[in-house]
Amino acid sequence: MKKIVVLGSINIDTILNITRLPLPGETMAMHDRSTAGGGKGANQAIAAVRAGAETSFIAKIGQDHAADFMLNTFKKDNLDIQHVTMNEKAGTGKAYILLDDNGQNSILIYGGANQTITIEDVRKAEKTIKAADCVISDFETPISATIEMFKIAKANGVITILNPAPAKFEIPNELLKLTDIIAPNETEAEAITGIKVVDEESMQRAAAKMHELGVRTVLITVGSKGSFYSCASHENGFVKAFKVKTVDTTAAGDTFIGYLAANLKSDLSNLESTMIIASKASSITVQEQGAQNSIPHKIQVNL
Ligand code: RIB
Repeated sequence: MKKIVVLGSINIDTILNITRLPLPGETMAMHDRSTAGGGKGANQAIAAVRAGAETSFIAKIGQDHAADFMLNTFKKDNLDIQHVTMNEKAGTGKAYILLDDNGQNSILIYGGANQTITIEDVRKAEKTIKAADCVISDFETPISATIEMFKIAKANGVITILNPAPAKFEIPNELLKLTDIIAPNETEAEAITGIKVVDEESMQRAAAKMHELGVRTVLITVGSKGSFYSCASHENGFVKAFKVKTVDTTAAGDTFIGYLAANLKSDLSNLESTMIIASKASSITVQEQGAQNSIPHKIQVNL
């Protein structure tokens, strides 16, 4: 069984259903609201564990009801939470998701406890990181902690996967050099490279720029169109997305990365077939509202 370690955020998502996204200064009525478990880190960890990988999670919660709710979810999924620790002062992370009738969203984040993860927290998980096949991180927790995890991973031959979300314009070169696989969407790819991603040719240019910055394998996800891959060896290709009716795109990218990590061989020789599996899993996630509740189990992906 694959062993995966995820370092990342935990959020309680409040979903606000609205007809369309508001204009600046506009007051609008919402037609429904609900809550669900979320956070890019937690979503990726749940995707990996539901894909069949033994998954450990490094994260921080607050001392509140939100934390109890999230810990219960993790236990139900058999996620290893020995490295999920509590910050008594900051609250558990929150996300406020504006979801329109076409399934498109805008997300506002309160980092809270997620922002208090330290290098020391990562070092305490050193043994678990060393024993993993693959580690995953994102930008909803401090970059210093991600760099520390990737350093330990690289020194021990563990594959590093970076989900560069939410988009950041300044990513330390040190982090990119420690990254084996980066998986931005088109907005994040543009933030990293300055290249607007509109077609396969611009994807190739953006990927070339990321290779130049030190990343071995680049995957650019372009929503309902599919995902592009480019390897430093110049091999590249495009995997089309499954056509489904989208209700909510939240956690689609997280599902893709969790499933990818759980199925990828250490020499990446099955990259394209793994992207097809990851894309099928994401196509299931987008058919239901909410993040963690919509991430499929392996049996549902059934390819
Ligand atoms: O990637 C989706 C996630 O982003 C949501 O679950 C929300 O919590 C934000 O972190």
